[in-house]
Amino acid sequence: MIKESKGCFELHTAHTTYAFYVLPTGQLGHLYYGKRLKVSEEAMAEKHAFAPSNTITPDQEHLEFSYEQGPMEISAYGKGDTREPFISVVHADGSRTSDFRYRSCYSRKGRTKVNGMPCAYGSEEEMEELEIHLTDNSYKNELILYYVVFPACDVITKRAVLINHEEEKLVVNRLMSSMLDFPEDGFVFTSFHGAHCRDVYEKVDRDVLPGKIEASIYAGVSSNRCNPFTMLSRKGATEDFGDVYGSNLVYSGNHATIAELSPFYETRLVTGINPAEFSWILKKGEKFETPEAILSFSPKGFNGLSQNMHAFVQNHIVRGEWAKKDRPLLLNSWEAAYFDINEHKLLKLASEAAKAGCELFVMDDGWFAERSDDHRSLGDWEVNVKKLPNGISGLAKKVNDLGLSFGLWVEPEMVNVDSDLYREHPDWAMAVPGKDHAEGRNQRILDLANPKVQDYVIEAMSRIFSEEGVSYIKWDMNRIVSDAYSPYLSAEQQGEALHRYVLGLYHICDVLFEKFPHILFEGCSSGGCRFDLGMLCYFPQIWASDNTDALCRVKMMTNYSYGYPMSTVSAHVSACPNHQTLRITPLETRFNVAAFGVLGYECNFCDMSKEEMEAVKAQIALYKQWRHTMQYGQFYRGRNNNLHEWCVVSEDKRHAAGLLMHELVLPNFASHRFFAKGLDPKKTYRFTNRSLKHNIKAFGDLVNAVAPVHIKTDSLMQDILAHFVKMDGENENYLVGGDLLMHSGIALKQAFASTGYNDNVRFFPDFSSRIYFMEEE
Ligand code: GLA
Repeated sequence: MIKESKGCFELHTAHTTYAFYVLPTGQLGHLYYGKRLKVSEEAMAEKHAFAPSNTITPDQEHLEFSYEQGPMEISAYGKGDTREPFISVVHADGSRTSDFRYRSCYSRKGRTKVNGMPCAYGSEEEMEELEIHLTDNSYKNELILYYVVFPACDVITKRAVLINHEEEKLVVNRLMSSMLDFPEDGFVFTSFHGAHCRDVYEKVDRDVLPGKIEASIYAGVSSNRCNPFTMLSRKGATEDFGDVYGSNLVYSGNHATIAELSPFYETRLVTGINPAEFSWILKKGEKFETPEAILSFSPKGFNGLSQNMHAFVQNHIVRGEWAKKDRPLLLNSWEAAYFDINEHKLLKLASEAAKAGCELFVMDDGWFAERSDDHRSLGDWEVNVKKLPNGISGLAKKVNDLGLSFGLWVEPEMVNVDSDLYREHPDWAMAVPGKDHAEGRNQRILDLANPKVQDYVIEAMSRIFSEEGVSYIKWDMNRIVSDAYSPYLSAEQQGEALHRYVLGLYHICDVLFEKFPHILFEGCSSGGCRFDLGMLCYFPQIWASDNTDALCRVKMMTNYSYGYPMSTVSAHVSACPNHQTLRITPLETRFNVAAFGVLGYECNFCDMSKEEMEAVKAQIALYKQWRHTMQYGQFYRGRNNNLHEWCVVSEDKRHAAGLLMHELVLPNFASHRFFAKGLDPKKTYRFTNRSLKHNIKAFGDLVNAVAPVHIKTDSLMQDILAHFVKMDGENENYLVGGDLLMHSGIALKQAFASTGYNDNVRFFPDFSSRIYFMEEE
């Protein structure tokens, strides 16, 4: 609900309130963001009888006032607010000072779209918009602020548009998407950092102390180094209690979020396109639009905030035919064969995938032109007929005949120097003309700022996507930006190059995704190097990391889950030793972890033992049964230390699945509990685990404590015995209330602790895990 009365603006969602007002000077001041309440401007507005000493007052009429103290709604550089500005421009006269004052407001059902960039969507009933116009007191430029309210998921979005009304050009050095001021201190800023194979691996919590904390990136993509999703929480907030604010951007390029504690102990959070290395020239009458920022608040801890974000992403970001559909269970060829693929090999894999119960077969890199390694051919999107004599559609048909749908990998934004495309159009790649170029995976980034390059990508991809039988595309992007220079733009426009790249990419996506609505598009950028809300507007799921090690994945998925729902996180079971870490984890755990996301397999089914394939078949059958809950249920984080605990609950709260994963065994510590979250306390649930059999080899020579004959470890005898004799696993089976499951937790059967084993003991060595099921009875 939006309310305006005498220059006081209130935005209400189901459980939150956001309010700001027109200051006596005409600028906008912030009043409040937090738990829903009745607003009183008189009681909430900062009092101004005198300005703090050694600060700047706006003019002779307002000597009691300073923009440096008190929460502002937006802050322009130059009039005394020394905190991080929302906007900073250079006027033709060289001045950098702006002074925006309130002029008018409009509100409406529904929303105004962002030009050239994706934004949150919804029906007219699901969202309302407030539009605020401000004018620069001296230069007459216009700043428009858009607020969209999504009441059901407690989200408010913000963005800005600047229009140049000066006679001469204006240089925009920064225009952020959101600024949020709090009149107090005591916040913790949380951001997510990582690298390739360590995507969002580090959740970093920092106290907001006097000074600034910045989570930002220059990589050209939103990046695995620093995700655009951040949180600000009141000190002491936990997963389930306390005030937590979330901030994200519908944007895929350079971004920055800065948390600052001012000299007056007030907290500011600004987020938007990274102003560093950015500038944009606006000619008279032209406008610049920022991407949309997403804000949410929950008084129910980090899980509460995540619930809001998940609902928002699922209902207002991810779109198209696949937005709410169960995602197919796939086998991807990459780790099974890397570049060494051909039709025969792929069909053998696909046939095993079909037997195991997979639904989609994906041919990864290596199928086009001379692509036998990562040195060549990106840009030459012609099938390699030596590898695929029957072309894409020929292979797709054969895969379809096995009962699987078919998809393939592309990397449309790139070119290798060793390619016909580069030889023909060297000026289509981003590079500083005539200067040395830095290297990254032997490839260059196409200059998507150039409309001709956009047209080429659309044309080349349309040809591939139109091939008969293609129902899925993995769209990769394996290089971050260096030598950021668009040969298409003038020298003075080079500060625009990276934002124009992102706009070019969105244009390409708009065209292709409208043209191929039935295709399921999966985003990828060396894994999660572009896992953001901009991409999720086109790609319902994103390959979250090139690292499939279960121990790493449990941490990464936990971290993704703060801001993103599991229906967006693509997760595969891969071979062991793991290709990224050489770590050996149980097949069961690899599945148990991946099953909480969009499950797939990425290993050589042809080389796996019969026993392993039987296990895989059972996993796939189980996942299909639970898929909807796993992909679209409400996801909660539990403990997250040596034990990792998750719980996902169906919308009607009748079914839930929980994960308990163990990092390392703590000797002589056998008692574990499983705690559920999000259940209906009044419902009765049957709590069970999967009944598993364990290989006696896992017990090594301990079997000699009970075996009638001596069994040597690694002997033929042990192999034969292991083939015929399996150890029964524990069974847990309780009929209990949702309240008990959440508050007492289930005391699980004791874990093995060197005192013998039987089916009342939980086999739980390093990296073990269990999925528990809770079904209403
Ligand atoms: C990237 C992706 C991988 C795979 C390779 C292919 O690294 O993240 O999944 O597709 O490229 O070259």
